[in-house]
Amino acid sequence: MEFSNSKLLSCNVNTIVCKIFILLLAIFLLRTLFLSPLPGFHWFQQKRVYWIPDNSSSVLQHEIRRDKFLEVPQIIWGLNNQKIAFARACLTARLLNRTLLMPSLSASLIYKEIDLLKPISFDKVFNFERFNSLCNGFVRLGRYSDLHNETKPFELRKGSGRKWTKERDLNQLYQCKEGAIDKFEVIKVDGKHPFLWHDHWPIMNYARIFECLTLVDEIEADVSAVIARIKAVGAEGRSKGSDFGKNPIMPFSSQNYVTYMAIHMRIEKDWMLHCKNLEQRSNIHQICSSKKEIMERVANITNQTFPIVVYLAVADSLLEDDSIVSGWREGLLPFEKKRLGVWNIYSKHPYLVQSAIDYEVCLRAEVFVGNSFSTFSSLIVLHRTQILLKMGVRSICGDSNFSSYAYNILGDFGAPKKWMTDMSASSLQTISYGTNYVSCHV
Ligand SMILES: *[C@@H]1O[C@H](CO)[C@@H](O)[C@H](O)[C@H]1NC(C)=O
Ligand SMILES: *[C@@H]1O[C@H](CO)[C@@H](O)[C@H](O)[C@H]1NC(C)=O
Ligand SMILES: *[C@@H]1O[C@H](CO)[C@@H](O)[C@H](O)[C@H]1NC(C)=O
Ligand SMILES: *[C@@H]1O[C@H](CO)[C@@H](O)[C@H](O)[C@H]1NC(C)=O
Ligand SMILES: *[C@@H]1O[C@H](CO)[C@@H](O)[C@H](O)[C@H]1NC(C)=O
Ligand SMILES: *[C@@H]1O[C@H](CO)[C@@H](O)[C@H](O)[C@H]1NC(C)=O
Repeated sequence: MEFSNSKLLSCNVNTIVCKIFILLLAIFLLRTLFLSPLPGFHWFQQKRVYWIPDNSSSVLQHEIRRDKFLEVPQIIWGLNNQKIAFARACLTARLLNRTLLMPSLSASLIYKEIDLLKPISFDKVFNFERFNSLCNGFVRLGRYSDLHNETKPFELRKGSGRKWTKERDLNQLYQCKEGAIDKFEVIKVDGKHPFLWHDHWPIMNYARIFECLTLVDEIEADVSAVIARIKAVGAEGRSKGSDFGKNPIMPFSSQNYVTYMAIHMRIEKDWMLHCKNLEQRSNIHQICSSKKEIMERVANITNQTFPIVVYLAVADSLLEDDSIVSGWREGLLPFEKKRLGVWNIYSKHPYLVQSAIDYEVCLRAEVFVGNSFSTFSSLIVLHRTQILLKMGVRSICGDSNFSSYAYNILGDFGAPKKWMTDMSASSLQTISYGTNYVSCHV
């Protein structure tokens, strides 16, 4: 690589070979520039779908320094915000070639009063050793006990306000890589929560980190218990057969293959207010979906094995609402935590962990239906897209038994739109703030 580079630089522009070479290079660049961004262009479409994540980072295996650290403020808000903030902190540490000191997460969602932010150690939720082993060579987490405390931390104040541009932010980070600051054992970032930092990284870098986040054994056991219960209810529904639906579409030979659908239904009052506001501000009319609309669209998802259990991931405020499980089409067996009899598994945990369990239950469902303006749904679809790519599935938007849909966008045949994440995006913007571009055209 270096060899050909230096050759190129010393290339004498007057020679004919060189001219031809530069001409070809220019043609290639123009082609890439002008052909790629056309959304309806078929071959590009195919190319993106076939595109497999680059594994070069683990091939190169640049070790992250173990004697230099980055410390970040406590990570707050919802599970999704916390995951994104954590990944951004990791990527900042990677840019500085430093180990990230294991940050505190927040167990509760109450964020208006700072003293109510119950800190919870990262390793109470996610497996610390597994994280470092899966993300080895990419990013690294460290413990406070690893510090030698040779120097006082360097306090880095992140700028804010409109004048603090992305470029200035990046410049500040690069300055931290220079001798004067780099010699500090710890760089301690002050102020804003990492979710609000500028985003300098492509989606693939985030995906690489999310993949390394696995739950600690104790919580994983609870996830398995919830899924086992969903499957048991599904098997029961299936053996009762036509009691549940007069048109059991698939033969009962597939009785052992019990799968479930998960729907992340955002219909609680807070969300409805928020999404109506968002619709007005952004002038997009595909953000809010009523319960009725969700039910109608889900009913039109074809090629589903009926009857099928539907796990409804809903806000706690809706658990007492009977109407949430009525009105679904025949063959869909809707349950939420309470009716499933797993509320006791959830209720022993704080908010953050309950949310992390729901995330896994939705992640592992055969069919997932969510809202493309929800960060929670978007992170699940990102993860599911990555799983499919790793499995070598070629056309994620086509037929597959691990598909995702956005119920807030109407697709073909009155069904919700098939949804996959555009893994070539250059930032996490669409995932953090929602989008009605869901990549699939079917
Ligand atoms: C990357 O490649 C290495 C071998 O070079 C392999 O062991 C590893 O599993 C791959 N990682 C991913 C995330 O695919
Ligand atoms: C970090 O620094 C070490 C030691 O200086 C170096 O070997 C490694 O390549 C660097 N890693 C990255 C990701 O830049
Ligand atoms: C350095 O300080 C941290 C607390 O700030 C402490 O946990 C750690 O044990 C100290 N390390 C050493 C080597 O004294
Ligand atoms: C339904 O699934 C089968 C395979 O399971 C596939 O061959 C067929 O094309 C699918 N049809 C639709 C409409 O998705
Ligand atoms: C899809 O279904 C096939 C069998 O029908 C199964 O082997 C495969 O594991 C399933 N894939 C997923 C992602 O569930
Ligand atoms: C979608 O489902 C509804 C019933 O829930 C039905 O009335 C409608 O015709 C379906 N739409 C299409 C295009 O199949």
